[in-house]
Order: sequence, then structure tokens, then C-alpha cells
Amino acid sequence: ETIEWDPEQAGKGEYDHFMLKEINEQPTSLAQALEGRIDPLNGRIALSDFEPGTFDGVDSVQFIACGTSYHAALYGSLALNQAGVHSTALLANEYSVSAPPIDDDTLVIAVTQSGETADTLNALRRAAAEGARTLTVTNVVGSTAAREADDTLFIRAGPEIGVAATKTFSSQAVMLTLLGQRIADDSRGEPPADLESLLPALESMPGKIDDLLEYSTAEAIADRYSRSEAYFFIGRGLGFPVALEGALKFKEITYEHAEGFASGELKHGPLALVTPETPVFAIFTGQEDEKTLKNAEEAQTRGAPVVAVCPDGHPAVEVADEHLRIPDTDPDLAGLVANVQLQLVSYHAADLLDRPIDKPRNLAKSVTVE
Ligand code: AGP
Repeated sequence: ETIEWDPEQAGKGEYDHFMLKEINEQPTSLAQALEGRIDPLNGRIALSDFEPGTFDGVDSVQFIACGTSYHAALYGSLALNQAGVHSTALLANEYSVSAPPIDDDTLVIAVTQSGETADTLNALRRAAAEGARTLTVTNVVGSTAAREADDTLFIRAGPEIGVAATKTFSSQAVMLTLLGQRIADDSRGEPPADLESLLPALESMPGKIDDLLEYSTAEAIADRYSRSEAYFFIGRGLGFPVALEGALKFKEITYEHAEGFASGELKHGPLALVTPETPVFAIFTGQEDEKTLKNAEEAQTRGAPVVAVCPDGHPAVEVADEHLRIPDTDPDLAGLVANVQLQLVSYHAADLLDRPIDKPRNLAKSVTVE
């Protein structure tokens, strides 16, 4: 008797899809990313290639990236702005027509899982040619973006096979948060205010995501809503890039219409789309949550079911139709744990719709053409 041996199937282990495997790997991939890079006992960042003073003189930061990596870049950029450093996140494919001015004090950070995305490489080369200092944040050692930038920070997420980026997003965002603290420290000459709470929160994050993967009710939520007309995701501050990422993941693998909005933007147009057939996922990160709750209630008044992504005991739990629980954590990281719940919702919705989850139509893992 012969046994059929499919290496791809074997690589998935106990999981039906690489995407689910990679979502479940996040406690490990995040622990790997952080290994030796934080020192909570002494309240310091321990990025060995980026000792204090590495970024002296940097007065502004431009992030360049595409797709999910752009959402991680936006996350990093907003965190850096909150730490007092001028920064912007730019779509790499728009960079040649819309790059802000660059000078010797500009640091340009390319964020790319593969390190081979043509749009991102083009933007990186343009920034270097204009005299910017460059840094690549990537998962792939030896990739083109890693080789071409002045400096590189590896996210150590391990191979990601599913076309939909999951574990690489969380590792990118976490490493950008950490790197941002170092940049802010050097650039402003004073330690960022929230390092004391951030470091222990980073250290406990893998364990909290491990718990979340156990108690998640994302499959039941996906089951309840997977035949809706459209899906909206709202968040503010660091919840905004997570809303964009929640929607991108959802549309990429379910083929359903999904959009992410800044919570406060809903009333400036998108509210016209809201009906009882359009569930709204509201992400609460502890930053002006009362405003996001008000925006979610505006959608609810128009009949939309609201799914609150927030910790137990949060005021939104009482108001919302459904609750996706996240652990209590630092506001700098709350959006990232919320994102794991949204990854699971997308996965289960796509599974119920019988989509080819690991290889969505028309998409490639790495986009090496402009
Ligand atoms: C994410 O799920 C997508 N597959 C896509 O948006 C991807 O993030 C984008 O193409 C950028 O890829 P990169 O990180 O390898 O540069």
C-alpha cells in the first residue's frame, strides 16, 4: 500500500489552511521577534543594531509600503507621531508622484514582508537617490530591500505561505512600535513617556494572544454575518490602520465587499452605505473610545449590527449586538490584538463561503511588477 504524500499538505500540520496555521503561530512569531530585543526589567529597548544614538539628527520619518505592509507602516507612523516625531506613511506605488521633500535628516523606512515588492523597491531607490537615509523592515534575510537599504531590521516571523499576510503584519507592527521608541528617544533627546508600560505589555503580548486564540468566538460571528451585503470596519488612532487591515483581509479572501474607515469619517459619506445588511466591526483601543462608540451607535441607529472588538467590561459591550473579546493591554498594542480577532473572522467567513483561502484569485504572494 502506498501513502499519498503531499508536501504542501504536510506543511499545514493539523490545520486546513496555511492562513489558519499562520494566525495561530502569532504567539511564537511575536515571541521570536521580541527575543533579546526588550529588557523590561531595566526599562530599556535592546535592539542590538540600533543602540541609543543611532538616529541622532533624524527629524522626520517617511514610511513606504504596499497593502498589508502599508497598514503596518501606518501603524508605526501614527505611533511615532504620538511619540512626538514628525512622520508619514506613504503608499510606495504613489511615491514617485507624491513624495514629500527629503533632506539629510529624513529617514525613509521601507516595510515589506518579502523584501521584493517592485513598488516598494522603486520608492526605496528613489529615496536613496535623493539623499535620504534608508532602513528596511522585512521578514526575508538576503532580500533585495534588505540588501539595498543602509540598515535592516528583521521581523523574524518565519516563512509565511498564505497569500494573505497575517503573522508578518503583527510582527511588523510590533517591531515598528519598538523601533519608533528608539527613534523618538534619539530624535527628541528624551525617553518616550510610555516606555515603562509598553515594555511589559510587549513581553506579555504573546501569552495574551495565545489565550485569545482559545477563547475567540470569531467563527460564530462569521457564521452569523457571512451572508451580508458588505462589511465595514471602524477605528480611530491606532485602531484606524487595523480597520483598514481588517477590511483588506476580509475582501482579499472572502471576495466580499469590505471597507475600513476612520470612525469619525463614517458620518462624512460612508454612512449612506449602512443598512441592516452591513455589519460594522468597531475596534476599541483605549484612545477616545467614547467617540468610536458614538460613531458605532450612529450605524446601529440605521439598523447595522455592531460587533464591538474590545475587552470585557468595556462600555461598548452593553451597546453592541455582538462582542469579540480582546485582552486588556497597553493602548499602543490593543489594535494588534484586535487584529487577530479580525483575522479569524475573515478566515472563518472565507471558509464558510468555500473560498480558496491560501491562494485567492488574481493575487500573488509577492508582487514583483509595477
Ligand atoms: C496582504 O494580505 C497582501 N497579500 C498584500 O497586500 C501584501 O501585503 C503587499 O503586496 C505587500 O507585500 P510585501 O510586504 O511583501 O511588500
